Order: sequence, then C-alpha cells, then structure tokens
Amino acid sequence: MSASARISNDPLIHQWMPFTANRQFMEQPRIIARAEGVYYYGTNGQKMLDGSSGLYCIPLGHGRREIREAVAKQMEELDYAPPFQYGVPGAFKLATEVAQMTPPGLNRIMFSGSGSEAVETAMKVAIQYHRVRGEGQRQRFVGRERGYHGVNFGGWSVGGMVNNRKAFGVGLPGVSHMRHTVIPENKFVMGQGEHGAYLAEDLQRFVDLHGADTIAACIVEPIAGSTGILVPPKGYLDRLREICTQHGILLIFDEVITGFGRTGEAFAAQTFNVTPDIMTMAKAISNGSIPMAAVAVREDIQQTILDASPENSVEFFHGYTYSAHPVACAAALATLKIYREENTFARVKELAPAFLEQIGSFKGLPGISDTRGFGLLGAVDVEPHGKPGARGFKILCKAFEQGLVLRAAGDAIVLAPPFAATADEITQMVDIMRKVILDS
Ligand SMILES: Cc1ncc(COP(=O)(O)O)c(C=O)c1O
Repeated sequence: MSASARISNDPLIHQWMPFTANRQFMEQPRIIARAEGVYYYGTNGQKMLDGSSGLYCIPLGHGRREIREAVAKQMEELDYAPPFQYGVPGAFKLATEVAQMTPPGLNRIMFSGSGSEAVETAMKVAIQYHRVRGEGQRQRFVGRERGYHGVNFGGWSVGGMVNNRKAFGVGLPGVSHMRHTVIPENKFVMGQGEHGAYLAEDLQRFVDLHGADTIAACIVEPIAGSTGILVPPKGYLDRLREICTQHGILLIFDEVITGFGRTGEAFAAQTFNVTPDIMTMAKAISNGSIPMAAVAVREDIQQTILDASPENSVEFFHGYTYSAHPVACAAALATLKIYREENTFARVKELAPAFLEQIGSFKGLPGISDTRGFGLLGAVDVEPHGKPGARGFKILCKAFEQGLVLRAAGDAIVLAPPFAATADEITQMVDIMRKVILDS
C-alpha cells in the first residue's frame, strides 16, 4: 500500500482527539471555527456562548488585541532561544510579576508549557529538596480522590480520577489518596460547607501508617475543578496545612484552574488564607492564548537546592524545550498587564454572588442531586441515566446545539464563565444549561 493510499478522504479521521469520544465525534462533530469575546462561532457561523472560559483558561474572553499584538511583536523580535543555560528578558520580567502576585515567600518561579508539566516539576522539586537535606527517604506523595493533576505519570498517579488511571498501569509507587470532600452534609451548599474539615485527618492517618518521614508532599487542588467543582469545607485546607507543617511534609496547591482570579483573588491560597509551600499554575496565566505554565516555590526551598550543588553545576536536572518560551512569556506579560489595569479579579467578586445564586437555584428541579460553587465556578450534579456520565455527555452535546459550550465532568455539569462576560450573558448561559438539563 502506498503512503497516499493510507490517507483517508474523511477529513476528520486522522486527528486522534484527546479526552474525546472519537468515534462519536465523527458522527456528530462539534467544530469551533472562530471566537470573539465570550462567543464561539461554528463552521456554519452558529454563535455559541463560551460557558467554560475555553478550558478554564480565557477569563478575559477571546481575541484580546493586546495579547495578539504582544505575541506578534515577540515573534518578530525573538521567536525562540534555548532555556537551558540561556535566558530571555521576558521570562525574568514575568517571573518577577508572578512573584508579586503569589503568597509571600513563594517567589521562585519555574516555567513550563502545561499544567501537567508544572505538576511534574513541583513533585520533582519536592523530592530533591528533601534529598539534599538528607531526607531522601521522603518519596511518598499524598493526593486525593477526585483530584486532577494532569496526565503525566506523576500527575495521574497523585490524581484520583478512575478513568484517567485504570488503563495505564500502576503509576508511581508510594502514593496514597485521601478521601474527596463531597459529603451529604454539604449537599446544595454554595460556597464552603460547614462540615468536613475532619477529612483532612486522612493525611494524619497516612502519617501514622507510613511514618511522616517517608512523605515528600501532599498535593491538592484548593478547589477540585475537573471532577465538578469540589469546594473545600471550612477549615479543611487549614488543617492540611497544620499537619504538613507539623510533619515536614510539603503542601502543594495545584492552582492550574483556580489561579489568576477564578476565586476573586489572584490565587485560591489567598482566598482561603492558606499558604502552600509550592504552587502550580497555568491556563489563565496567558489567557489561554499560548501554552504556558509555572511553579512557584518557596524561596528557601529553591535556595536549599541551589546551595547543595557544587559551583558551576546544574542544580536541578529538569526543564523542557519550551520552558519560558519567549512568545508565551510575551502573551503572559500582556495578560497580567490587563489583569492589573482592568482590575479583572475584582470583577469575579462582583459577578460571583448572582452566578452562584443562579446555580444554587437548580436545587429542587427534577433530577438534580447537588449544586456546588465558588467564585466563577459552578456545578450541578444530574442524576445519571444509565451508564454514569452518559447523561452528562448528552447534555454537553445538546448544549452545543443550543448555543452553549460547557463542561461535563461525568454527570456534573460545570459552568465557568469568562470574567469578561456580562451578568446578562451569564444568565443566558445558566438559562440554556437549565433548559438542556430539564430536556435531557
Ligand atoms: C488542577 C489541574 N492540574 C493540572 C492540569 C493539567 O494541565 P494541562 O492540561 O495544561 O496539562 C489541569 C488541567 O485542567 C488542572 O485542572
């Protein structure tokens, strides 16, 4: 067979799509051709509201001129330079700006290209930090059920999403998972539930079981996004912090979704007033325009790793070809400038109360088993029809037809509007979501 004979006439066949029901997609393609502001446009010109800010990554809406221009300018000036042993001006500037936004002390910033890479970076920093301090036996990680930390081996191993794990073997050894925080006592609570701080004691149990001095880090999303907006119960994150501090375990917050304003402050760490030792971020750092991610590390953690190495030697054998990519840095710098100048995160505080009230109002509608939310993140659990997730997927497809792009995490239907949306546009999103759910 010649090479060309293996090329299909079906224009959709050759892309193997990520996290997608590929065969179903061939039958019922959902193609997005263009976007502007908070709207997408399909190939036939149909207009759709972006109810998920892309994948939680475009708070400013699509097509901001300032970002586009910064990217074009950077492409002309310097399209690429190797990040190992060389540096580009934009990366240092961006690191400084990010360090000004992170909680005090977390001011050493390492860039990467995706949230998954940021998570791997954070986990490796944790291991090496302990090792250079003579605690190389601290190799265990504690994650959480229903956590999502990307798809690389470290990330899915500490993550707690069954479908992301079961096809891929045993993963990283020495990982324990705390219970997730969705409990009946907090059903239909919008914001933080009163009950459930005790779930943090799971970490203490792993300390008791394995010995604190075997555990490198505990990693959680302050609000778990990908499994349907799991808001931490009051006191839960504080208690995790206490246990980590008491036992020398590093606390890693994965703020890939919550970072850059989603909860009303720059980071959820600030919203919940709990400071981790290491923090990952991605997505909204560049308003989704160019892949970019970062890890913020406590200053003394970085210093300890640097000091442990001989002079003129690489201290941390880790990095990516596209770490601190100059074009991504330019996109992120332009994005952060807009956040500052437009006071973007304050807008979340303005929009969130009405949004959360609307999501909360699904309580009592037929077939709704829970509602959750915080900031501009809201989720409605629908009772499954048949196989778990089947109804959620049907709702996603129907919403697309009705002019709304949303997320379905199994049977949790999630809205995460761009901060640039008006209150009316958010109401429209919720209205379409309600209609599609009730029709499903
Ligand atoms: C909390 C969290 N961590 C990590 C990731 C992985 O990021 P990426 O898809 O950029 O690799 C995601 C993606 O949604 C995420 O939500």
